Amino acid sequence: EAIEKGGYDHFMIKEIHEQPNTIRDCLRGRLDVEAGRITLGGIREYAANLNNTDRIVFVACGTSWHAGLVAEYVFEELCRVPVEVEYASEFRYRNPVIREGDVIFAVSQSGETADTLVAIEGAKEKGAIIFGICNVVGSSIPRASHEGVYTHAGPEIGVASTKAFTAQLTVLTLIALKSAHERGTIDDKRFRELLAELYRIPEKVKQALDMDEHIRKIAGKYKDAHSFLFLGRRYGFPVALEGALKLKEISYIHAEGYPAAEMKHGHIALVDENLPSVFIATRDSSYEKIVSNIQEIKARGGKVIAVVSEGDDVIPQMADDVIEVPETDELLMPMVSVIPLQLLSYHIGTMKGYNVDQPRNLAKSVTVE
Ligand code: G6P
Repeated sequence: EAIEKGGYDHFMIKEIHEQPNTIRDCLRGRLDVEAGRITLGGIREYAANLNNTDRIVFVACGTSWHAGLVAEYVFEELCRVPVEVEYASEFRYRNPVIREGDVIFAVSQSGETADTLVAIEGAKEKGAIIFGICNVVGSSIPRASHEGVYTHAGPEIGVASTKAFTAQLTVLTLIALKSAHERGTIDDKRFRELLAELYRIPEKVKQALDMDEHIRKIAGKYKDAHSFLFLGRRYGFPVALEGALKLKEISYIHAEGYPAAEMKHGHIALVDENLPSVFIATRDSSYEKIVSNIQEIKARGGKVIAVVSEGDDVIPQMADDVIEVPETDELLMPMVSVIPLQLLSYHIGTMKGYNVDQPRNLAKSVTVE
């Protein structure tokens, strides 16, 4: 096992650090920046269904559901098609409206999550076209799907998903970009710009990983808090949800992810000096707004840890702690901004002496209801 961990103390931290490579593997053979081309062998026969549909539904659980939420923003932005993101367990039981030809993406690391599998089987019977976005080759969900794309992140042993998440985001972004190009909803310049930027993501993830030691110190400062808030807007919102989930899973600390603006409608009542708020506050189109949200928390005595873009000189003056990540297009930022949150939960979990690879009560793959 020590050999399998490749010199790391845990699979989780090994897998976190593997992400520049797993994202690169995921792009290999699919992204050709020079030619301005995306090739996806897994979506051929049903590509026209994807490009012509007037509605896309993502069905998933856990971290994969968060990948679906990021994809919602990406697909709506690029393909101008309405998207819904559903918890598989709700979708399968609530008699959802499914029409012949509707496109459903099932996102699942293991490809074996029972709720996701049964949800797509039911939708398929009603005539939906299913695309499986899975990591484990030959697993049940890809077999039950019409077509799909594998995430090629390699085996993920840590129960809490890390590298599978960024691989899912990579694949879903590739699919959205390709479909937008074929639909004609993205101009050539923006398309090429995003391809070039996607190619640079592994390097930017690597730079985010270089903050590991700094994040470990921050973890030491906040590890005894009983509760955390994670706040973000737009592309930062699903990342906030994922940061909160990671912390709950790994360190058994209560945490909630929330859209930063929505905190006024309840969460702000909880804020005091004992409740740290983690902001995903990178420079993007909602930056000014999130700066005001940080001020609102500070004005109530709350502690703020902010994930910011490199060189930000505004937020460091108000936040208690900042973690810098390199800039990228806001559409691709979740792949970079989630990294510090994975590291934060890892370090808090290990400092508390927990088994981060196998947290209590959780399973890698939930194959029963
Ligand atoms: C379990 C795992 C999570 C995972 C979720 C969905 O709860 O502990 O890490 O995100 O299942 O799994 P899937 O294999 O469908 O992505």
